[in-house]
Amino acid sequence: MEAIGGECAGALSLYPEEQRPPSHTEDDIEVLDDAKLRDILELLKKHPLLAGEDKMRLSLAGAQEKMAVGFQNGKVALIKGVTPTTHILKLLIEHVTDSVYNELFCMRLAKKVGISTPTTTLHFVGDIPCYIVERYDRERAKDGSVTRIHQEDFCQAMGISPEIKYEREGGPSVESCQNILSVHSAKPAADQLRLLEMIIFNYLIGNADAHGKNFSLLYKGTKPELAPAYDLLSTAVYPNLSEKMAMKIGGKYRPEDVFMRHWHRIVPNTKAAKTNIEKQLHRLAKHTLEQALILKEEFHKDGLKFPVVDDICTLIGERSKRI
Ligand SMILES: Nc1ncnc2c1ncn2[C@@H]1O[C@H](COP(=O)(O)OP(=O)(O)OP(=O)(O)O)[C@@H](O)[C@H]1O
Ligand SMILES: [Mg+2]
Repeated sequence: MEAIGGECAGALSLYPEEQRPPSHTEDDIEVLDDAKLRDILELLKKHPLLAGEDKMRLSLAGAQEKMAVGFQNGKVALIKGVTPTTHILKLLIEHVTDSVYNELFCMRLAKKVGISTPTTTLHFVGDIPCYIVERYDRERAKDGSVTRIHQEDFCQAMGISPEIKYEREGGPSVESCQNILSVHSAKPAADQLRLLEMIIFNYLIGNADAHGKNFSLLYKGTKPELAPAYDLLSTAVYPNLSEKMAMKIGGKYRPEDVFMRHWHRIVPNTKAAKTNIEKQLHRLAKHTLEQALILKEEFHKDGLKFPVVDDICTLIGERSKRI
C-alpha cells in the first residue's frame, strides 16, 4: 500500500501517515518511446504491481497484467507523483490466446449494441499488442486537468472480500447486485435495466467471468450509478477456462441449463417484468449477432484477422439461437 496506494481504482489515494501527497510537477508525465515502454512491459511481467520501481504505481485489482498510464496522440505516458492516470493498458494473457483482440472485440461490440463502455484502442509497442481502455473514473476538464471520480465494485459495496468474488464462493449474485442498485442508485430503474442488458450481453458473448468485481458503482454525484461495462472477454471460446458462469442465471451456473424460466427468475415476479426481459433477450440476441458480424468485417478491413473473433461470432450465433 505504501508503494502503490497513491493511485487506485476510484478516487482514493493512500499515503503513509506522516507523508503529504507530493505537489504536482511538470515532469509527472513522461511520454514514453517504444524502447522505454517495451522495457517497462518486460518489467511488468516480473513485478506485476511495479511497486517500488522509480515511483511507478499500479494498484488496480484483477488477475491480468496491466498498467495505469496516460495516453494521448497515440503515445503512452508514464504518470508519477499526484497526477491521475487516464488509461489502463493490458497485455496478452498467458494461455488465453489473443486475449487483447478478444477484449477489444467484446468491448467494441458492447458499444455497438448500446451498452455504455469506455473508449478502447489497440496499440502496438513494436510487435507487442496492447489493449488500452480509457478510465471511466477520471474526468478531464477543458484545461486538460484530470479529476478522480470514486468507484467501488459490487464486492466492495457489499463488504465481500475479493477472495470470494464468485457467487459459488459466497460472492455477489445478480439478485444482490440488482438489490444494491434498487436501494442506492441515483437512477434505480434505469441502472437495473442497464445491468440486465450487461448480463444478457455477457451470456451472449460467453463471458463466464462477470463476477462482482467486474461491475462497479461510480460516484459522479452524491448517489452512485452503475459504471460503464469493462473487462468484457469471451471466456467460453477457450476450452481451458471454466464454463461455469460467475453468477447464476435463475439458479443455473451452466449456460446450457438456462431456459426462459430461469431468465424470468432474475426479474421481479410480475407479468410486466417477465414480458420485458423476454423482449430484451430477443432484441439483444438479434442485435448482438448482427453487430458482431459487422464488427468482424471492420476488423478484417483493419487487417485484424484472428480465429478468436470467428469463434466469438460462432458462439454468439449459438447463444443467440438458443435465446
Ligand atoms: N476502463 C476502466 N476505468 C476505470 N476503472 C477500470 C476500468 N477498467 C477496469 N477498471 C478497474 O480496474 C479493475 C481491474 O480491471 P479489469 O477487471 O479489467 O482487470 P482483470 O485483471 O481482467 O480482472 P479479472 O481479475 O476480473 O480478470 C476493475 O475491477 C475496475 O475496478
Ligand atoms: Mg476484472
